[in-house]
Amino acid sequence: MDVMLLNEAGERVERRKALVDLIQSTHPDKTGAFLLCAGYEREREQFYQDSTFHYFLGLQEAAAMFYQPLQGTNSLFLPNYAIDRTAWLPVTFDEESLASLAIEQVELLGKPIMGYSTGPFYTPASLETLIERLTQLCQDEQFLFAPLQDISTECLLVMRQLFEYVPGLKEQTIDISPLIAQLRRTKSQAELEYLYNAAEITAMAHQAAAGVIKSGVYEADVQAAIEYIYTESGARPAFASIVGSGVNSTILHYVDNNAKLPDKGLVVVDIGASAHHYCSDVTRTYPVSGKFSEAQKKVYQDVLDCQTYIAQLAAPGMFLCNKKHPDKCLNTLAHDFLKQRGYEVEKVFPHGVGHFVGLDVHDVGDYNEPLAVGDIITIEPGIYLKDKELGVRIEDVYWIVKDGAICLTEEVPKKASEVERFMQDACFTDNNDFYKTGPNEH
Ligand code: GLY
Ligand code: MN
Repeated sequence: MDVMLLNEAGERVERRKALVDLIQSTHPDKTGAFLLCAGYEREREQFYQDSTFHYFLGLQEAAAMFYQPLQGTNSLFLPNYAIDRTAWLPVTFDEESLASLAIEQVELLGKPIMGYSTGPFYTPASLETLIERLTQLCQDEQFLFAPLQDISTECLLVMRQLFEYVPGLKEQTIDISPLIAQLRRTKSQAELEYLYNAAEITAMAHQAAAGVIKSGVYEADVQAAIEYIYTESGARPAFASIVGSGVNSTILHYVDNNAKLPDKGLVVVDIGASAHHYCSDVTRTYPVSGKFSEAQKKVYQDVLDCQTYIAQLAAPGMFLCNKKHPDKCLNTLAHDFLKQRGYEVEKVFPHGVGHFVGLDVHDVGDYNEPLAVGDIITIEPGIYLKDKELGVRIEDVYWIVKDGAICLTEEVPKKASEVERFMQDACFTDNNDFYKTGPNEH
């Protein structure tokens, strides 16, 4: 049993209580149960748990469903696999972990299904126990509270099958995505530590990237160094690593990473580790030659000044993006800042200035709500000049506190002169001390 899971089981139970309270205060005249769906395995791919399921349960079991009456006994439902799953995959929980997570009973979803793993496709027979429970709920004129947005396609497919198999369920289901987003948005101390850990691994990956970038190497060489650090640290990419050089630096989500670095060009390295399911997201822009040209330095400084300006303004009460409050909207303020520097921002800065970060790299949270203590956001202005084959983006992760924002990723240098020195000093070799620590030691 994962020690971490045991340590945090109490926090997960509290989160579920908070969800029940929130459902009851938002819908005081309704009662019923909430349902959460786990993620699904894909054949021969590593399983990654659904973020909301992980937040409330922490179990790494695929295809599970958790059913919690607002008053009454909860159940963890599992598919009735026809063959012994433990012969193929590790056991993900035991009685101790279920007890610590206050999971009261484990039930089979229905009749046996083929194999030791399943996709999100069920016959009514294979879901019959859950169908009976939901049919009773509808007959009792109660409600099912379930997230219907911000969920995986697999979870959505399962919900659609339940709507098809249980008459009246669709009409008696209330979407609780906004309530879950509200809870997930505010990070606890334990979550902050995970976010900081992911930030540290990402910082090491930037150090490796800075050690590899030079003329003659390929974008893929840089990506390989980055992902070596992740793998060695027990992490994985939170999103496809972006290593865009030359004209590719101007393509926002370029992930082909197959071009040779142009001698005098820039490389945008937009990467993030996901460790213990928490993500980071840090972008630096490096000169391939190790020295920024004057033209590159000018654009670089404008982007850095914009980031510094927005980071000083980020605080409770400001908004990531809310058009009704332009004077408090970080997105508008960033665009206005770069407009004043003479850029045609609609063309050269076509993305938002930031997003929430957490269990997902673009985490849940309403951008129209003011920022609050405990939020984690990125600040990531950029300028992309296609005709000059010159793209610059600088991105860090910030923790919103009472009177401002604290950068979680400041150890990755970002002043132009510091970036140049970082590239000189960094080297990618497995003789470095930090490559010697094991997956659980960072
Ligand atoms: N760093 C990738 C993104 O924010 O979309
Ligand atoms: Mn980002």
